[in-house]
Amino acid sequence: MKKELAELRINGQTHELAIEPNALLLDVLRRELDLTGSKRGCDDSSCGSCTVLVDGTPMLSCALLAGSCEGQEITTVEGVSEHGSLAAIQKAYGDWGGAQCGFCTPGFIMTVKHLLSVNENPTEEEIRMALSGNLCRCTGYTQMYQAIKSAIDAEKKGMAAK
Ligand code: FES
Ligand code: FES
Repeated sequence: MKKELAELRINGQTHELAIEPNALLLDVLRRELDLTGSKRGCDDSSCGSCTVLVDGTPMLSCALLAGSCEGQEITTVEGVSEHGSLAAIQKAYGDWGGAQCGFCTPGFIMTVKHLLSVNENPTEEEIRMALSGNLCRCTGYTQMYQAIKSAIDAEKKGMAAK
């Protein structure tokens, strides 16, 4: 298939790429740009491991044409760290053992990032609802929820200190 030029904004940088019109965003991220944080965990858009933010909204990059994202701001897990340091949610995952194999983790991180951008103080039920499209096959979820709650507390403390 003939490639076409596309301009994609990813993690604050503009990339001009020649891509096939049917190229999926996940494949472009991983194969063309070496942004391998987003994972392909399934074949049927059911696991959420490939979740990225497109203009702030969580989207499955395995089910999204890369070309359709032109003019939008794409954020991957590589763009979550703040000034070179781990974001609160990433640090909390490490502190609480929220990841085992880690394959699902980037997708969870992106979904949590979106949740906290629209709801600074989600209840446990709201956290569970928000994460219902992300599957983890290892952790049993308990440590993951602890990590998320701890990240929320850390954010609140940070805000109170400002
Ligand atoms: S790889 Fe996209 S939902 Fe599973
Ligand atoms: S930590 Fe292994 S799938 Fe979630």
